[in-house]
Amino acid sequence: MMSGADVIECRKVTLDDYDEVINIRKDVYDGLDYLPALYRTMMTNHIGYVLTLNKKIIAFESISVIDDGESIVGRALRISKAYEGRGLVHQMEDFIRKDIAGNSRLKHNVFTTGNKTIMERNLKVNKGQLILQKGILLYKGDISKVVPFLLNVDMLTTRILNKDDLKKLMTSKLDTDRLFPQGRIIVDWVPYRLLASNVDHFFNDFCHILGSGDGNSDRIECMTVAVGYTAPKGIRYIVEMYGTFTEETFSDHIVQHLKRCSTLDTEHINFSLHYETGKHNPDTITKTMHQFNMNKSDTHFTIMYGVEEPLDLLSKY
Ligand SMILES: CC(C)(COP(=O)(O)OP(=O)(O)OC[C@H]1O[C@@H](n2cnc3c(N)ncnc32)[C@H](O)[C@@H]1OP(=O)(O)O)[C@@H](O)C(=O)NCCC(=O)NCCS
Repeated sequence: MMSGADVIECRKVTLDDYDEVINIRKDVYDGLDYLPALYRTMMTNHIGYVLTLNKKIIAFESISVIDDGESIVGRALRISKAYEGRGLVHQMEDFIRKDIAGNSRLKHNVFTTGNKTIMERNLKVNKGQLILQKGILLYKGDISKVVPFLLNVDMLTTRILNKDDLKKLMTSKLDTDRLFPQGRIIVDWVPYRLLASNVDHFFNDFCHILGSGDGNSDRIECMTVAVGYTAPKGIRYIVEMYGTFTEETFSDHIVQHLKRCSTLDTEHINFSLHYETGKHNPDTITKTMHQFNMNKSDTHFTIMYGVEEPLDLLSKY
């Protein structure tokens, strides 16, 4: 399959590489791959890299620089099945490392994973630090069976938060301490430090961020940060829960997110909820989801781990 005459190269992608990148492999994240929907948006603030074999794209990874330029996060890594397990991913990562080596502001590599072995190995080998943990719940349902339960439900306690609301929130230590005790806001599995500059990074057309107050002040008591898109096997909708919910506020948030799902023009919904263990009750969450005909489903991973490791650009990142 590969011979000495084969030419392996690395380069940055352009938007024109879309088809070839998406065709690298079709089974990514069990058919819930975000790259087909998000590639064009991501490439406005990520750098995409590919590994080519005789000019044909066989692997992809994108990186983004967040946290006021101090952290890097790698996303959407994949290699063609035919070339898996040969260490080729390392060649691409070496190229990326060299490409960013001139950036002296970079201090950390951050990532999240549901895979405990990857997390533990990273802490041991790369001197990473565990920066957060969240519980993962998955619910499945069909738009046609969910929508009847959403009709005539008003948005009682929630309001949509825009970019400016988020930036304001990030600069209020009182609010961030209350809402994000683990010191990060996660959006689509990326852990961002609580900085106003990160809002421009994660806020895009795929986000739907809701807040609820106590009714008497502007104070936000609870928040859901969602990202939703159509993936090859249906809607992929991921919601991060922050703050203190009542059953009423939680139900209001879910209604709004399911309504948003119904705009995505795809029947099957895969709805993930990431909750703070010890603060949010999984049984109450499941009870509310049932009220909207969304049923709990098994997941490969039940905990999300956030890891931050020192970035050593002279060796491995
Ligand atoms: C994950 C994947 C790229 C690994 O490809 P591979 O050719 O088997 O890669 P290798 O086993 O040679 O591993 C090379 C490096 O890839 C990275 N890697 C492997 N599995 C990974 C994973 N699940 N998550 C993140 N990085 C991973 C590691 O940096 C690894 O370095 P190490 O050898 O020091 O551990 C490949 O299996 C794939 O494309 N899977 C489908 C997409 C996917 O699941 N991606 C998950 C990452 S977001």
